Amino acid sequence: MKPILGFADLWWARFGVRPPTLPKMTGTPLVGGMLRRASCRSFKPEPVSEALINLVLGVAQSAPSKSDLQQYSIIVVEDPAKRKEIARWSSIPDWAGKAPHLFIFCADIRRQQAISHFRDKKHRNNTLDHYTNAVTDTSLALGFAISAAEATGLGCCPLSVVRNHIEEATALFELPDGVFPLAGLALGMRDERDPRTLRLPPNVVVHRDRYEDTGLKAEIDRYDDRRHARKPIPRNKQIEPDRHGTSDRYTWSENAARRLSVTEREEFLSFLKGHGFNLD
Ligand SMILES: Cc1cc2nc3c(=O)[nH]c(=O)nc-3n(C[C@H](O)[C@H](O)[C@H](O)COP(=O)(O)O)c2cc1C
Repeated sequence: MKPILGFADLWWARFGVRPPTLPKMTGTPLVGGMLRRASCRSFKPEPVSEALINLVLGVAQSAPSKSDLQQYSIIVVEDPAKRKEIARWSSIPDWAGKAPHLFIFCADIRRQQAISHFRDKKHRNNTLDHYTNAVTDTSLALGFAISAAEATGLGCCPLSVVRNHIEEATALFELPDGVFPLAGLALGMRDERDPRTLRLPPNVVVHRDRYEDTGLKAEIDRYDDRRHARKPIPRNKQIEPDRHGTSDRYTWSENAARRLSVTEREEFLSFLKGHGFNLD
């Protein structure tokens, strides 16, 4: 029988640094599961029961939302022809194309515009702030769906790569102006769980009373060491070796810096502006 791990053990596994004072695990298995979680990119072929899918989607909708406006929509992609088409998009990895279920989490400012119209009021909030609220609501719903799926033993992985195909996705799901696909969520019965990834140490992310990052470089070096010792990034996963070379000690921060040296999805702003988001 597997020993029951306490929060302190889970903290070690999550951060690789000494845990702070933590409560006892009793009665909070969900939180333990959240500390232990990892994305899943390998699924059994059989589908998840409709009941469980409903539960996951219901929990997604239980997320808090700015002013209770609930500014997101979730497309459950069921049509095999649409799944096939998505699987053909160049950025969609094979495992995601084959995942038993795929949801598309869309930020949605359209519904509230319609509701203002129903109530005969002028909607004066097509702004950057309002866009940010919708994206936040959508992200929380996505996060709640992930937690529900993982708590019920399913595996899942978000997919921002659907935004590489934003025009195709918009056409395929008939998304109207004011709605855009923020991320997909591939989901199914877990075949293999990806290994847990170490997170940044909390003292880098959590600040007390004021923002303080004077020791950042040393902390990142130590974080790189811990991650590299636990699970080095394979040589064939190094980003842009032709431009930056191949490194024997290819770290998390090197990977992050290389990733951010190439601008992603430059057309996104003009897409949004052309599809009902004013962003002023
Ligand atoms: C908004 C969002 C988009 C993501 N998009 C992708 C993606 O397109 N492809 C992918 O393989 N993983 C994607 N991920 C998963 C991250 O790579 C993963 O969460 C991260 O590497 C940490 O690993 P973990 O979830 O196992 O802890 C995404 C995660 C988030 C939150």
